[in-house]
Amino acid sequence: PQKALSAADIRARKGGVPLVCLTAYTTPVAQLADAECDLVLVGDSVGMVLHGLPSTLSVTMDMMILHGQAVARGTRRALMVVDMPFASYEEGPEQAFRNAARLMAETGAGAVKLEGGQHMAATIRFLVERGIPVTAHIGLTPQAINALGGYRVQGRGADADRIREDARAVAAAGAFSVVLEKVPAALADAITDELDIPTVGIGASAGCDGQILVIDDMLGLFDAFKPKFVKRYATLAEGASAAIRTYAEEVRARAFPAPEHVFGDEGATS
Ligand code: KIV
Ligand code: NA
Repeated sequence: PQKALSAADIRARKGGVPLVCLTAYTTPVAQLADAECDLVLVGDSVGMVLHGLPSTLSVTMDMMILHGQAVARGTRRALMVVDMPFASYEEGPEQAFRNAARLMAETGAGAVKLEGGQHMAATIRFLVERGIPVTAHIGLTPQAINALGGYRVQGRGADADRIREDARAVAAAGAFSVVLEKVPAALADAITDELDIPTVGIGASAGCDGQILVIDDMLGLFDAFKPKFVKRYATLAEGASAAIRTYAEEVRARAFPAPEHVFGDEGATS
């Protein structure tokens, strides 16, 4: 079997063919993503897209571990990265290390991701020096939604310097890549030019070293809302609704199950 990509392999892709990244939360979807992706992220977006939570704030370590284990069973080639959930790392480097190590040990992930720039640099360095590869996540950081006051673009105008400093800080701390979420394209391009680690954009720029989307968003499975930066490559929720409607009609009309779906005294046993 093919060897999985490491954080170092991803790091080495700086400036090359763009990194293809998607989230996954289950084994079958991880298998589909793994066929094309360099990196599969078990995002804490799982709370919103699979569990119906209003934000990522109440996602727990146990949820990340359960979904991480499922994704690991479907991932062979891509680097699997697990998000550190809200309140599992912000207290300080020791808490972050304890929980990151647990995520890696219990899921087999090759790296973790955490949100935050300058104020997380010491924590990133602490993890990296102890053997845990870290992807940083700056710009719009959904775990800070209550402080940010909404899912707004970050780093416009005079605010650009803050995002630039965040990018420099996480790269200097040893992050092997950085997710740039919902920042102006020109700022994402400037950060991509300046840093020596790959930038992975979501609502950022085609000039980033890679792109990531939430898989349920790009498949049109999650359609509660659609951020501007999401491109729907399929409309699976519509297909699913149509299938469920047809099933309901056929059950009510006793058209399902048909003869080929039922068993006789002889013939097929499964
Ligand atoms: O949780 C998530 O899905 C993410 C990506 C959108 C980067 O953090
Ligand atoms: Na996330």
